Parts: sequence; C-alpha cells; structure tokens
Amino acid sequence: MPRHTPLDELKWVHSMVRRDLDVCRELAASVADGASADDVRAGIESLQTNGPLVHLRDDAVMFPAIRQARPDLAPTIDRLEADHRLVSDLLDEVEAAAGDLDDTAGRRRLVDAFTELAEHLTEHLDFEETALAPALEAWTIWSGARRGAVEQQRPLALVAGE
Ligand SMILES: [Fe+2]
Repeated sequence: MPRHTPLDELKWVHSMVRRDLDVCRELAASVADGASADDVRAGIESLQTNGPLVHLRDDAVMFPAIRQARPDLAPTIDRLEADHRLVSDLLDEVEAAAGDLDDTAGRRRLVDAFTELAEHLTEHLDFEETALAPALEAWTIWSGARRGAVEQQRPLALVAGE
C-alpha cells in the first residue's frame, strides 16, 4: 500500500481548490462578457456547495495539531490563519458583489473580487504546502485516522505513533 501522509492529503485538497479557482477565473471572464446574473449566481452557488473553497473557512483541525506538535512553526501558523481569515473575507465579498450585477460597476466589483480571491489563494496554497511540508511529511497516517484525531482532539503526531 502506498505511503499516504497528511501532506499528500493537503495537496489533494489544494488540487480541488485550484480547480475551483480556475472556475472562479472563468466566471470572472463571463461576468465581464455580460453573462446573465442568474448564470453567474448559479456558478457561485455551485462553488459554495461543492466544498473546497468553503472548506477553507473552518480549518480548525490541522493548525491546532501542528501548533501542538511543532511550537517552532507558530509564526507560520499565525500567518496561515490570517490568510484563511482574508480568504473568508474575500469569499464574503464575492457573495456580496454577486448580489448586484445590474450595471457595469457591479460587474466590475465582482470581477475584482474573483481576481483578488484567485491571486491571494494561489499564493496562500503554495506557501502553505511549502511551509508545512516538513511537519506533515513526518506524519504517517491515513485520512480516517485524521478524522479520529479530530473527534478526540489529539495531535496528529500522537495518532501516528500509536
Ligand atoms: Fe490554507
């Protein structure tokens, strides 16, 4: 069975987020090209219900586990958590901007929101993978064990060692 680390899992989740960002860029282009408000809102709704972008809003599992296992990475986690708050704000801005697509200014606001979200999130995903790789590569657990760690509020490293 191939070795599967939390880093693999993070990269897998990130690959879905990157796919969603491609959809965001396509939506931004369609907004600028005059797509109907209903079509744009349906596209945004699909992104929200599919998960990966929303998933970023409440990552309350991995960061606490890393803080506990690797106190030296606290400044990195601080930055990543601030990134997640900004992403959450940018998602709120996308939703707010999508509520008014009646004129050019409204459409411009949504294009800008999508663009800022895509730029920030792309940078964040790259940084997160690089910065957390040393910690996550050292852990050898499966995703099922990770969910167990969530329920029992134990650091991933302890689960890995059992
Ligand atoms: Fe993240």
